[in-house]
Amino acid sequence: MRKGAYMKKPYIIVHLFLSLCLLLLTVPCLAIENDECMDCHGDPDLTRMESQGVKQNLSLDYRKFQYSIHNINGIACVDCHSDITELNFDNEVPHALSIKSVDCSTCHEEEGQAYSKSVHMQAASKGMSIKCSACHGYHEVMPGDRLSVLERENKSCLKCHNPFSLHAWLPQKETHFAYVECTVCHAPDSPRHIHLRFFDLVKKDFIDSTDILTSLGTDLEGFLPLIDTDNSGSFSAKEFESMVFILRKRGVHVTFHGELLSEHQPLIHQVTLGNAERDCQDCHLPLSPFFEAVTLFFNNEDGTVTHINVDREVLQTYAVSNFNVPGGTRIRELDLIGVALVAGAILGIGGHLFGRILTIPYRKRRKLEEQQKKQS
Ligand code: HEC
Ligand code: HEC
Ligand code: HEC
Ligand code: HEC
Ligand code: HEC
Ligand code: HEC
Ligand code: HEC
Repeated sequence: MRKGAYMKKPYIIVHLFLSLCLLLLTVPCLAIENDECMDCHGDPDLTRMESQGVKQNLSLDYRKFQYSIHNINGIACVDCHSDITELNFDNEVPHALSIKSVDCSTCHEEEGQAYSKSVHMQAASKGMSIKCSACHGYHEVMPGDRLSVLERENKSCLKCHNPFSLHAWLPQKETHFAYVECTVCHAPDSPRHIHLRFFDLVKKDFIDSTDILTSLGTDLEGFLPLIDTDNSGSFSAKEFESMVFILRKRGVHVTFHGELLSEHQPLIHQVTLGNAERDCQDCHLPLSPFFEAVTLFFNNEDGTVTHINVDREVLQTYAVSNFNVPGGTRIRELDLIGVALVAGAILGIGGHLFGRILTIPYRKRRKLEEQQKKQS
């Protein structure tokens, strides 16, 4: 043992020395600081003439870049613009005039793979190229997991498609498009869940979960054991109701609003037409697999998101429902009755379960949608 320890010492010193040398050697070429790029690209007047006489702006808003998910995770200019390995200030432009376009998939391989199987990639065969940045942008990429279905859609699908002129077969389009994310139907391999948001019954608006915790005088860490009394990691229907009761005692009157959305995962990119979901029964049945995962949505102050698992029975609690619709098995009649009757039938059938997801009267939802549309 002792001998071994003696033997190691000189080795460690040599090792340290070598690492230090290596570090010193690589530092200058590794790190081109963002500031160096911003010396030029921070100037809003930095433009260049394109071939057709169009001016291209070559500056970026560094303040916005700083808030981007990439900057927050330490991704620098040259991590994306990776063929700029040095700046040579002997030249007027210190790097090559034409650099290769950024390939997001070098870092987001799984997203790239899923995307390569989507209708959007297939559009390339028709000469249309839809890059990642068509939906995400590039210098100001923000995570979408704290956004509502409609906010997500506004930032992606709705930029190019008008779903109302399509989907002739789908009733209640406004409700479906606002509360069922496009990708739930169009990327059916992507896992999905229902998430429940706090809705303030007095203010008639969504209430920020940070405000809920403040009114309880606690944080999420303190909140969980307060509600999840059996420590199961999931709120049962009983625990859920007791949460509503605790809040009411503090003067916070809440109900819950449900949305059906795709998990924040690479498969969300595998958008298909042929395999898109259209069977009413798949969703509008009490035991629908679409309603398997239910979570309570918390947005944290630091911008991250926490989903707390809740038991599926929670969808049937009073807190999640305004009205009581009896369950039934009349689903086969769906095919027989006309569209006008479908709504009523659905309320009688699936309503047993998802009727409880409908927390707010329809009119209010429309108002909210309009507000959201105005905001974005
Ligand atoms: C001394 C000023 C200066 C600095 C420093 C500088 N650039 Fe540039 N950059 C320019 C100019 C000028 C152009 C336009 C070149 C042209 O006329 O085509 C340009 C063009 C670009 C382009 C577009 C290239 C293309 O192919 O379309 C990118 C991307 C770019 N710079 C990134 C960077 C990054 C990243 C850094 C830091 C590592 C950086 N630049 C540092 C001046 C600068
Ligand atoms: C997440 C990757 C990413 C990061 C980080 C990034 N860029 Fe870019 N940048 C792109 C993409 C994508 C484009 C669009 C052109 C392309 O496809 O290569 C682009 C384009 C540009 C252009 C051309 C003008 C324009 O806006 O289209 C400049 C200049 C530029 N970037 C500079 C920078 C500088 C400076 C930084 C650091 C402050 C930076 N970029 C950080 C991905 C990135
Ligand atoms: C140099 C590596 C790198 C490149 C290139 C890159 N990213 Fe990222 N990206 C990251 C890292 C690291 C994160 C943060 C960690 C995470 O969520 O994966 C991230 C996060 C994201 C997120 C948010 C993920 C979430 O959890 O919500 C999106 C969206 C995203 N990137 C899109 C893009 C797009 C679009 C491009 C191309 C314009 C791109 N990225 C290029 C490294 C990269
Ligand atoms: C047609 C629109 C669209 C295109 C194109 C697109 N995305 Fe996304 N992406 C989304 C949506 C919608 C989400 C989920 C919610 C959100 O983040 O807005 C998402 C989520 C992500 C996430 C976070 C979830 C995860 O997988 O971890 C990353 C990272 C991401 N995209 C990267 C990419 C990359 C890389 C490309 C190009 C290969 C790309 N996206 C192309 C729409 C798109
Ligand atoms: C940048 C614009 C753009 C965005 C954003 C976009 N799409 Fe597309 N989408 C297209 C184009 C272009 C096509 C190809 C149309 C064609 O092949 O004729 C297409 C095709 C489709 C198709 C197949 C339609 C057909 O007739 O083949 C579906 C389904 C689809 N998109 C759904 C979505 C969904 C869901 C989203 C959001 C996740 C989305 N799109 C976001 C531009 C976009
Ligand atoms: C309830 C499931 C469902 C939802 C939600 C849904 N779609 Fe579809 N969509 C389908 C089905 C099934 C088809 C194929 C049948 C058809 O053409 O109507 C389709 C067709 C399409 C087409 C191609 C239409 C054509 O005629 O070529 C586009 C584009 C599209 N959807 C975009 C969207 C967008 C964008 C959203 C979100 C705003 C969305 N869809 C929401 C199920 C859905
Ligand atoms: C991908 C799952 C899914 C599919 C497929 C689907 N729906 Fe729905 N539908 C929902 C959800 C979730 C809601 C509740 C939305 C909300 O209010 O939060 C809903 C709401 C409804 C409503 C009530 C609307 C309102 O304004 O109260 C009716 C009626 C309805 N769907 C009929 C249908 C019919 C008919 C079909 C088949 C043509 C169908 N749905 C297909 C998920 C689906």
